Amino acid sequence: MVDSLFNKLENTYKGKKVFLTGHTGFKGAWMLKTLVMLGADVKGYSLEPKTRQDLFYLIDGNDLCNSVIADLRDKKRLETEILDFQPDYIFHLAAQPLVRLSYEIPSETFEVNVIGTANLLDAVKLLNIKCNIVLITTDKVYYNNEWLYPYRENDRLGGYDPYSASKACAELVIDSYRNSFFNNKTYSSHKKALAVARAGNVIGGGDWSKDRLIPDIVRALSIDKPVNIRNPKSVRPWQHVLEPIAGYLLLGSNLNENPLIFNEAYNFGPQISDTLLVEEMLKLAIQSWGKGSFNVEIDENQHHEAGLLKLDISRAINELKWNPKMDAEEAVSLTMNWYKEYINNINNIKEITSNQILNFFN
Ligand SMILES: NC(=O)c1ccc[n+]([C@@H]2O[C@H](COP(=O)([O-])OP(=O)(O)OC[C@H]3O[C@@H](n4cnc5c(N)ncnc54)[C@H](O)[C@@H]3O)[C@@H](O)[C@H]2O)c1
Repeated sequence: MVDSLFNKLENTYKGKKVFLTGHTGFKGAWMLKTLVMLGADVKGYSLEPKTRQDLFYLIDGNDLCNSVIADLRDKKRLETEILDFQPDYIFHLAAQPLVRLSYEIPSETFEVNVIGTANLLDAVKLLNIKCNIVLITTDKVYYNNEWLYPYRENDRLGGYDPYSASKACAELVIDSYRNSFFNNKTYSSHKKALAVARAGNVIGGGDWSKDRLIPDIVRALSIDKPVNIRNPKSVRPWQHVLEPIAGYLLLGSNLNENPLIFNEAYNFGPQISDTLLVEEMLKLAIQSWGKGSFNVEIDENQHHEAGLLKLDISRAINELKWNPKMDAEEAVSLTMNWYKEYINNINNIKEITSNQILNFFN
């Protein structure tokens, strides 16, 4: 019998200590629930969730882990929490992750995303045990030429807006720490392996962020209003949140087995055929919801956002044996089903979330 992905990951993470930053966020809460289902002992480090409807509360996140509410910029606190815990794995998801907000608070975005990453790696330097570290950046780290071809891991990094630039800077920081302090040549003395995961736009239940397509769609459709969209012709590599989470976990697992080989950057995104226009994604969401309409908003003062972005995922497929499981239609349908349950049957949302995880990984 072929082992399921769940069994494979359970073999890696069961009973292991995992330090998870960003555990109160959208991706982080899915990651937390998945890790706990795999049998990991999780310590989270993040800011307070923003609203009572955040996924972290819906899954009773406080009962799932040792939840530390603190800032990445509090270097001493971050160091103490990591050293006290002595983690086998670190997944670094915490960030200021919004492009539009980064235009309003650029220097804070750089502080959290760049200095926050350096603070974390400074603490890792003080750990005296083997530790595998997966740092989450984004597909937006690539210098975007609006080319038709999908970006590969060795393409040039850059970033037009402060968010993208901050994540590209974080990658330079990671590369510098990898060369200077966690070098392959001295692995036997430091025993640290650093890998980077670059994922595209993710969708899934429990995201309530401002200025993201699915939350905007759900907010409008749930009160029978038309959805207002800004960039109908923008192309994005949409994917269900569980796809990159499987990628992050597989990357951690591979790092553990072969730290000197997998301590590099990996793209996680959909198959190219599922790289959709915003407009196409919206139509799928309305179809899955059952009814709804949309308007295109023209904003003359709109900040620059990349129009075209595609990711080449062959490296993750070939080296990590990771593969996207869902096409765009399935990903949208799973997402909209979660929100419909949230609206119609909120008492079941914890169970729905667990079932979506189990079905995905088995
Ligand atoms: N959601 C996406 O489509 C997407 C796409 C590509 C990359 N990413 C990356 O994935 C990661 C998670 O994103 P998300 O969508 O879950 O975002 P989110 O906003 O839902 O969660 C962000 C998390 O970071 C924490 N955080 C923010 N500032 C912090 C600070 N100063 N100190 C400590 N914790 C802080 C928040 O408390 C929260 O737990 C981010 O690194 C983001 O850049 C997300």
